[in-house]
Amino acid sequence: MQKFVITILTAALALTPAAGAVHSVSSPDGRIKFMLNNSKQGISYEVNVDGTPFIGNSAMGLEAREVMWDYSRARVERSGADETYTLPWGENTSCRSHYNEMAVTFGRKREFTVRVRAFDDGVAFRYELAKADSLVITGETTQFNIAAPQGQSWSIPASFETYELNYRALPIGDVTDANTPFTFATPEGLYGSIHEAALYDFPEMTLRRDSTGVLRADLAPLPDGVKAYIPGHFNTPWRSIQIAPSAVGLINSCLILNLNEPSKITDTGWIKPQKYCGVWWGMHLGTQVWTMGPRHGATTENAIRYIDFAADNDLQGVLFEGWNEGWENWGGNQHFDYLKAYPDFDIDSIAAYCRAKGIELWMHNETGGNIPEYEAVLDSAFAYYRSLGVHTLKTGYAGGFKGGYYHHSQYGVRHYQRVVETAARYGLMLDAHEPIKETGIRRTWPNMMTREGARGMEWNAWSEGNSAEYLCTLPFVRLISGPMDYTPGIFDIDYLTAKADTGRIEWNGPNAHCRIRTTLARQIANWVIIYSPLQMAADLVENYEGHPAFQFFRDFDADCQWSEALQGEIGQYIVVARRAGEKYYVGAGTDSQARTLTLPLSFLKPGVTYRTVAYGDVAGKPASVSFTSELHTSADTITIGMQPTGGQAITFIPVE
Ligand code: NOJ
Ligand code: CA
Repeated sequence: MQKFVITILTAALALTPAAGAVHSVSSPDGRIKFMLNNSKQGISYEVNVDGTPFIGNSAMGLEAREVMWDYSRARVERSGADETYTLPWGENTSCRSHYNEMAVTFGRKREFTVRVRAFDDGVAFRYELAKADSLVITGETTQFNIAAPQGQSWSIPASFETYELNYRALPIGDVTDANTPFTFATPEGLYGSIHEAALYDFPEMTLRRDSTGVLRADLAPLPDGVKAYIPGHFNTPWRSIQIAPSAVGLINSCLILNLNEPSKITDTGWIKPQKYCGVWWGMHLGTQVWTMGPRHGATTENAIRYIDFAADNDLQGVLFEGWNEGWENWGGNQHFDYLKAYPDFDIDSIAAYCRAKGIELWMHNETGGNIPEYEAVLDSAFAYYRSLGVHTLKTGYAGGFKGGYYHHSQYGVRHYQRVVETAARYGLMLDAHEPIKETGIRRTWPNMMTREGARGMEWNAWSEGNSAEYLCTLPFVRLISGPMDYTPGIFDIDYLTAKADTGRIEWNGPNAHCRIRTTLARQIANWVIIYSPLQMAADLVENYEGHPAFQFFRDFDADCQWSEALQGEIGQYIVVARRAGEKYYVGAGTDSQARTLTLPLSFLKPGVTYRTVAYGDVAGKPASVSFTSELHTSADTITIGMQPTGGQAITFIPVE
């Protein structure tokens, strides 16, 4: 049940006849001020924090074929809201959206509105078009002129095809192009992050330094060079700038969700977070394959083993990749059969076994980027999955889109959204790999549970892997946008089982150097740090069976109601706490430096005594984990020691 308390604070109309006017709106606490300037030449904005420029003068606007906007007359409307809403799931299932709003409308025949919202933790604006025929958008002139170019930034390079790229820590002024979220810090110690919210029917926004030396919106084009074909009435996605006095403040913000609409799914009872395992890691390690043959991973026998493991260990779901015909064509003509299981995967009896055991059977649809074929069978495939009792679907787009379309173009955005909405109709929760970036649409479409959209665990199997610095950057950049299916929790961090198999298949060249580049305790901590409502125990089940540290995941609950990033600096360390029901979980991680942190437990419920179990690092033994059990209350302060690339995970279970 959602409860809305909306207060319209003010509504005023003002007409500014003359060009060269400034219209401003401030955050409810008055600290952030957004100023919109309009002159005959165009419109621009600035953002001040406590009277100091945060974003310097920056152009605004859209470019459309055969359209010249007239910015000389502005009509200003003011409003605002203070609303607390609930979500069926999330890091925090209750969010507050408190903002002052200003909508400045230009033109008469062809209206162009800039709607601005100023929150205490950032600002956002979007362009709204009305009373116009359909438009051909050829560009966007929005700039982000960050006032402190000497400040530091963290981002991946701009790419319209992939987000699976390494982070760069660069002075803001040295960034030539970047994707969003684009996170930065000023020398004065303020933190910011540029992103977008509610991305529908429009290309994604990346940032590129323009000829005037300022970072500017760069939209993914369609094959004909056009950025978007839009109808006459259209709202662009929000361009958002989060602002916080601390790095963790960026994480502890609902701003992106606040800029999205409430759920369009009325009955959300079937949408439930899950812990899951699956036949997956073996394929990336190369001990198993997706195709039929002696190394086939998704066999009936393995399926039963994984279902039993899930049922015995308090997991709710199982994923089998390579269950369906067509994997021989992956990387070739990308033809997959979404309805036909391989003969050695007895789908009917596997589905029946899952139902009998109370375990959710996941379906997996790798498309290889063949969108036309996938869209043609969406309805029949989803109806079939529903008939099997399936509620969860993982999708994949590993391969170029047919027709020369970019993954992140308007075509791609439309496709990903079509899958979300079709899945909602068939009662399917989604986990999208090679997705479009998250822009908070999970509030509107809560079946859009999680997605990849960054370098996940798979990179550790067949590349130089993900460093501890990478893992300490992820929460402050990619994860600001929303949940990630990183697929955490590899226990055999040296791949001893895989390396013993001399016949294993090597992806992307020799794999002997590959391993997990953190300690085992950090792998456990990632289950808490990297939020996903569908959280995977990604290792082979034989590496969990009998391992005492797997107790952490048994005790873990993916369905949390409250979260807070308690401490952290970008690229260096992070500490996150979550509460699910009466239990709390803490995950901490460091970069390549050993680190000792002091953590007050004041976030715990007062007056309750908790049995804590800390899963910690062992000096010089990254594959080992230490166990420390204590009793604590919210009045206590604990010390968290971490080895280089290490971490710590702690469960807090109330003592009866
Ligand atoms: C890439 C995905 O990220 C991974 O999880 C999956 O196993 C492969 N594609 C195959 O679909
Ligand atoms: Ca991937």
